Amino acid sequence: MTEIYSRRDGAMRPTRETIVARATMQDPVQPLTRREWWRGAALYQVYVRSFMDSDGDGIGDLDGVTARLDHIAGLGVDGFWLSPVQPSPQKDFGYDITDFCAVDPIHGDLAAFDRLVAGAHERKLKVLLDLIPCHTSNRHPWFIESRSHPDGPYAEWYVWADAARDGGPPNNWLSSFGGPAWTWEPRRSQYYYHPFLPCQPALNLLHDPTLEAVRDAMRFWLDHGVDGFRLDAVQCLAYDADLRSNPPEDSRGPVAPLGGGVNNPFRKQNHMFDRDVPAAFPIIEKLRHTVEDYTPERVLIGELADVDSARVSEKYTISGEGFHAVYDFSLINGPRDVRPLTEILTYRSDFLRTGWMMNVFSNHDTARAVSDLTRFAETRQEQVAAQKLLFFLQFCLKGGGILYQGEELALPHPTLDFEDLRDPWGINFWPDFEGRDGARTPIPWEETAPGFGFTTGTPWIRIPPEHHGLSVAAQRDDPDAPMAFLRALLDWRRGQDLLRWGGEIMHPPDLAPLILWERHGGQQRLLCAANLSRTVQTVPRDRVGGAAVLDGPGFATAMAAGGLEIPPLGFAVCRRPDAPPT
Ligand code: BGC
Repeated sequence: MTEIYSRRDGAMRPTRETIVARATMQDPVQPLTRREWWRGAALYQVYVRSFMDSDGDGIGDLDGVTARLDHIAGLGVDGFWLSPVQPSPQKDFGYDITDFCAVDPIHGDLAAFDRLVAGAHERKLKVLLDLIPCHTSNRHPWFIESRSHPDGPYAEWYVWADAARDGGPPNNWLSSFGGPAWTWEPRRSQYYYHPFLPCQPALNLLHDPTLEAVRDAMRFWLDHGVDGFRLDAVQCLAYDADLRSNPPEDSRGPVAPLGGGVNNPFRKQNHMFDRDVPAAFPIIEKLRHTVEDYTPERVLIGELADVDSARVSEKYTISGEGFHAVYDFSLINGPRDVRPLTEILTYRSDFLRTGWMMNVFSNHDTARAVSDLTRFAETRQEQVAAQKLLFFLQFCLKGGGILYQGEELALPHPTLDFEDLRDPWGINFWPDFEGRDGARTPIPWEETAPGFGFTTGTPWIRIPPEHHGLSVAAQRDDPDAPMAFLRALLDWRRGQDLLRWGGEIMHPPDLAPLILWERHGGQQRLLCAANLSRTVQTVPRDRVGGAAVLDGPGFATAMAAGGLEIPPLGFAVCRRPDAPPT
C-alpha cells in the first residue's frame, strides 16, 4: 500500500499525496453499491457471564440470554455477539477453552445454544459467536498430548522452542498480561509460547492440521446456525517463524496506546515479530474460505488489539477479502480530547480505503466509556448526554457499530477494591491498572428484585453501588434515557444509506471542540457535527453552506445568525446539496 503517513516533527503526519487525495477523493469502495447487512450493522455485545442468570448459580447463562432477547431486539440492533461459552476452567473467564465444540455447563448446553439461536432468528437478530483461534487452555486435551508426546500427532500443535544457551526463554517476547510470553514445560524440556496467560498456550496455526481443527470448530457452530464470528485477538494468529526478538519501542504516531497499565513492560517493545506478522494472511484466507461455503453470507469480524488497529485494519479487510471487518480498538483506547481524537479519526479514514471496521467504545476488556469522558461528564445528566453523543459517533462515523451491554443504560465505571478483583490481569498490575472487572459487573435488570433481577443467587461479582438506580426497569419508560435515544437513532439511521454504507471524509480540527465529518456516496453528502464540550458551539454558516439541517432524534437544528448552534455534548446532521465530496 502507498505510504500515506510519514514521520515529521516527531509525529506521524499525512503525506502531501494524502492531503491532495483527501481533498479530491471519490471513495474507491463505491460504497452505495456494497450494501451487505454487516457493513452498517448495529451489533450488541453480550458478555454472557454477566448478562442474565437463569438457574441461580450467580453466573449468566444461555437460557438467561434467551429470556432477555426482547430487551436486545427492543434496542433496534441487527444482532449480537456472544462472549465464549465453551467449556473452560475460567482462568481467563472463557478465553481459555478445553473444547471448541461444546458448551460449558455453567452456561448451559448445546440445546440451550440452539434455543437461543432460534429465538434470536425469530426476532430477526443475527448471532455471532466469539471464536478463539489463537490459543486454548493448558487443560485442553490437545495441549496435554502435545506436552507429553514430542513425537506424537499433536507435537506441533503448539509453539514449542528450546531454551536459549543460557537456559532462559528463546527470545524476549512478553505477554500482554505481564511477564514473559514463554513458560518452561518440564515434561517436554522445552518452552511453550503464550501471548496472554501461561494457562493459555498459543496454537500453532502455521501447522496445517491445527488450522484445519479450528476450521472444523467454525463449521460446527455454523452448522448450529451462527451468522458469523467475532474472532479473538487476531493480531496473534501467527508469529515470526525464526522467533526473532522484538526491538524496543522507539516511536509512536497518533495511535491508541496499548492497554494494561503504564508500567506494563509489554509497552516497551515494538511488536514486529509477535503481533500482526505477514504469516497471518494465508491463515486468514483459509478462515474466510471456511465461511464462504455457507449461505446466506456469514461474517468474520477480527478483533485487533495490542496494535495500531487504525493503521493496519485496511490490510486485514482490503477489498472485502480477508475478514469482513476489523473490531477496531483505536476508539476504545483512544484520546478523548478533541484535537487528538479528530487526528485519530482522520488517520482511520485515510488508512481505511477499501476495508471496513466496526466502531467500538467499550467492551468487557476496557473501562466503561462514559466514565472515560469525565472531562465532560461528571453529573449523571452529563453522563447520559455523553452516552448519546457516543452513540451518535458510533453510528454516524464510517463503519458498523458494536455497543457493549450496559452502554444502553450509560452505566458508569465503578470503583473497585482489590478484594473485588477477579481478573488475573488486574490482580497482576494493581494498583497501576485495576484490570477489567469494572466493565464486567452484572446488568442490573430491576431495582427491587433480589440480585437486581440478574440472579436469584449470589452474583459472581457484586453489582456496584454506582449502578443502583440505573436498572433496565428504571430506565425502560424514560423517553430521555440513552436506551430510548439509541432505539430512535437506529430507527432513523435505517433510512440513511449514506450513514450505513457511505464513504467518509474528516474535516480538519479547526472548529474544535466540534468534530466535523462528511459521509458521501455517489453525488450525495451528509455533513455530521459533534460537540465534545460543555459549551454551545457554532458551525459557521459558510461551513453549513446550503445544506438542509436534518431533524433526527435529539439533533440540534437551531440556526442562529452565526450558524448552526450545537448545544453542549450535542450533535447535528445536514444534507448537502448534491455535489461530489470536497
Ligand atoms: C479478549 C480478552 C481475552 C484475550 C485473550 C481478548 O482480546 O477480549 O478478554 O483475555 O483476548 O484471549
